[in-house]
Amino acid sequence: MTIVIEQPLNEVGREEKRLVSDSHELVLDGGFVVPEINSFGHTFRDYDADSERKKTVEEFYRNNHIHQSYEFVKKMREEYGKLNRVEMSIWECCELLNEFVDESDPDIDEPQIEHLLQTAEAIRKDYPDEDWLHLTGLIHDLGKVLLHPKFGQLPQWAVVGDTFPVGCAFDKSNVHHKYFEENPDFCNPKYNSKFGVYSEGCGLDNVLMSWGHDDYMYLVAKENKTTLPSAGLFIIRYHSFYPLHKHGAYTHLMNEDDKENLKWLHVFNKYDLYSKSKVRVDVEKVKPYYLSLIEKYFPAKLKW
Ligand SMILES: [Fe+2]
Ligand SMILES: [Fe+2]
Repeated sequence: MTIVIEQPLNEVGREEKRLVSDSHELVLDGGFVVPEINSFGHTFRDYDADSERKKTVEEFYRNNHIHQSYEFVKKMREEYGKLNRVEMSIWECCELLNEFVDESDPDIDEPQIEHLLQTAEAIRKDYPDEDWLHLTGLIHDLGKVLLHPKFGQLPQWAVVGDTFPVGCAFDKSNVHHKYFEENPDFCNPKYNSKFGVYSEGCGLDNVLMSWGHDDYMYLVAKENKTTLPSAGLFIIRYHSFYPLHKHGAYTHLMNEDDKENLKWLHVFNKYDLYSKSKVRVDVEKVKPYYLSLIEKYFPAKLKW
């Protein structure tokens, strides 16, 4: 039996209450069911679980931490910020992305479109009035098209995984932190102090984040003049920034706007994480709704 509380989760950032039921489920007080285990039978984001994917995930982070330097990020932002590769709609991008599976993620082995719609639909159920948040759920991972040949077929370590600021010290809360020792910035005094090239409260907008699908999709949305609220853009850019939203690291770089938007990111994150399970979504059934949201917040064709 599952205990479900009907009251909607309408207050941002408040403590989630979890009730244990006698099945393998936890329930949030918004009625959103949080499974205790992922599709592989392990707890979510368990990087030590003795799974077949453990080695792949660790090797992934070794490469990621070695190569994501300040210079690398600057180069990638300049290159991909040109948005001169493809013109397509948001929905076309969803379909393109459907060809990939995310190697860095210990929780899923299913096509991305399922994850996008599972996330969006779970949010929609608990926050029926926040249509921008439903759309944010749908599009938050679209930057993963960087894996596609049309986008230079970037290696996984340059597209997915947890993100972190570059240009200042790598916080200990970063998963597999030891591999940063081989990053060229690790011993560079310009980049390895608490603030590095930044200053207290400078705002995350002014911070370079490790390059990947989050920052890329943020650039795409912003440059194509989305009308999504700033919280939507914040979620897109920082949804993989686990050191911040899970561990509370790097808060000394945040400004007041960031602190407000972080509340929404906390709301979003539990859906991003826990909707990765074997719940199927009828794509054709929900498609008209999401097309209407795309039309509301984006131009018909976007530059990528
Ligand atoms: Fe993501
Ligand atoms: Fe995601």
